Amino acid sequence: MINDKIDFYYFSGTGNTYLVVHKMKEVWEKHGLKVNLFPLENSNPEKINLNNVIGLGFPVAEQSTYHFVWDFIKRLPESPGTAIFMVDTMGSFSGGIVGPLKKLLTGKGYHPLGACEIIMPSNIFYIAPEKKCQEKIEKGLLKAEHYALSLLKGTARWGRVPLISDAMYLASIFGLALTRSRINQNLLPLTTYYDLCQKCRICVKLCPVGNRKIEKNEYPQHGLKCEYCLRCASFCPYNAIKCPFNYKGKTYKAVEARVFLERK
Ligand SMILES: Cc1cc2nc3c(=O)[nH]c(=O)nc-3n(C[C@H](O)[C@H](O)[C@H](O)COP(=O)(O)O)c2cc1C
Repeated sequence: MINDKIDFYYFSGTGNTYLVVHKMKEVWEKHGLKVNLFPLENSNPEKINLNNVIGLGFPVAEQSTYHFVWDFIKRLPESPGTAIFMVDTMGSFSGGIVGPLKKLLTGKGYHPLGACEIIMPSNIFYIAPEKKCQEKIEKGLLKAEHYALSLLKGTARWGRVPLISDAMYLASIFGLALTRSRINQNLLPLTTYYDLCQKCRICVKLCPVGNRKIEKNEYPQHGLKCEYCLRCASFCPYNAIKCPFNYKGKTYKAVEARVFLERK
């Protein structure tokens, strides 16, 4: 049960997780709780306040989540029973996250309150038409509301299917390592179309891992540590960045760029 202050650390590439996390905050604030939201990419996991309830929110990637999100979680300090919950958003299916994350956090001494996976529009491969995306967002936010209430009442659960989820996690970690490899980064980079780019630097400001660099008045360069969160491609005002996996080069965003730019 949550009856205290909540520190909610989250990452969102293209806005789905941002919407879910804000919906949960709205529900709790109506019930008089104090909720702090922290962009995970700008936070130091070693400095979290173990006296508050901790929340973790992130998108599913390759059946678990991005390497830098795992890195944040793995660097959390040991805890004498701090209550913790998680929420993720996904296009359809994960499998390598809920169980392994519970194992990792209980191993560090945290008290798991609940885990919830929420289907939102996919931001990769096939981007559905606007109306379909809106319907999914509405359904997803309703689920987020129910989950926030269940955490409040103490009825939320954090399941674990040991063998299957551990196997999925290992497959995911292997996939993520491959994604981060030099070969993949060289072969399948997000492409910048310099004839469209206006050097506005939004992509540089938005990249969570500092992979986009711009020197003096040059065009931004895409480095070799992309995690494919697709923020740069989704929020480029000139559609100058393309993801090689997306059908017809279409991009998805659930919010406007300013919600991320203003937080920084
Ligand atoms: C690189 C990448 C990998 C993804 N892998 C999965 C996946 O394994 N399973 C899934 O259901 N969705 C997957 N998705 C879709 C996202 O999890 C989903 O659209 C999510 O809600 C995006 O959240 P965000 O807008 O907060 O970044 C992936 C998206 C990206 C960009």
